[in-house]
Amino acid sequence: MAPKKKGTKEKGKKQGKGAKSGKQSHVLAYGDDTYWNNRYTANPVVFDWYQKYEGVKAFINMYIPKATRVLVIGCGNSTMSEEMVHDGYIEVVNIDISSVVLEFMVTKYKGVKEMSFSRMDVREMKNLKELTIDHVIDKGLFDSFMCGIDAPTNVQLMLTEVRRVMKPKGVYILVTYGDPRVRLPYLKTLEFQWEITLYVIPRPSSTKATEPSSRIFTNPVYVCEDNTLGPQFNLDDFDWHYVYVCTKELPTTKELPAKKGDAKGKGKELPTKKGDAKGKVKKK
Ligand SMILES: C[S@@+](CC[C@H](N)C(=O)[O-])C[C@H]1O[C@@H](n2cnc3c(N)ncnc32)[C@H](O)[C@@H]1O
Repeated sequence: MAPKKKGTKEKGKKQGKGAKSGKQSHVLAYGDDTYWNNRYTANPVVFDWYQKYEGVKAFINMYIPKATRVLVIGCGNSTMSEEMVHDGYIEVVNIDISSVVLEFMVTKYKGVKEMSFSRMDVREMKNLKELTIDHVIDKGLFDSFMCGIDAPTNVQLMLTEVRRVMKPKGVYILVTYGDPRVRLPYLKTLEFQWEITLYVIPRPSSTKATEPSSRIFTNPVYVCEDNTLGPQFNLDDFDWHYVYVCTKELPTTKELPAKKGDAKGKGKELPTKKGDAKGKVKKK
């Protein structure tokens, strides 16, 4: 199960009115269209959250072959998908909840056959059939949910849908500011049998991005039992970004087609894979 609701809202963004009152509020809804439509209308500037394609290209190239069907969730007006196509990717399916940003993207990329854009809520991707997507990229959407109301529920719904549409052995690449203490409790669950590899990269324009480093950023980092990264990393340092590469290994029994007369087994989890290679995140 995902972590409990209490105290899960992350700092760093304005939370707005209505948080404590329990009243419906559009201001807090980072996972809903009204907030994002207003934002894209007020500020229609093309913007890439955290990293541009250049910053994550190495990981995308490492895990995602060019001739695959890639889903970009919460695409916004980022240029990442366009740059992926320039890099040789043949099918990039983009979804977002904001009709405003999608209208902009559809016009901008009219005629680019490698890219498609659809308005869809990642929590309910009705128009995407199960097991039809090879790989998924999320840059900023998980984080949006984490900064809004009902974060655990929304993240759970999102990850369930992501896994539903993904083929086995596909990867879900999450690019985030969230360090492993606050992201792994959502990813490293029995419910989601991901095989997780973590990379830590510098925030562009930070000194970490330019100063010499003995660490090769494209090497995975070892994650300790308590979801920290050991003394060499200050996880409270905002100049680190995190790339979680989550491979859909074993389907859970919930995800397997139900066998006839197997009502009892439904909902049970498959055993966790043994072994903990260097750089891999141990499952609990
Ligand atoms: C932080 S922005 C990231 C945009 C882009 N991926 C980037 O890296 O620049 C989050 C995006 O997720 C979209 N979004 C928010 N809630 C969503 C939902 N429930 N389903 C699909 N997209 C959503 C927003 O409209 C917004 O474009």
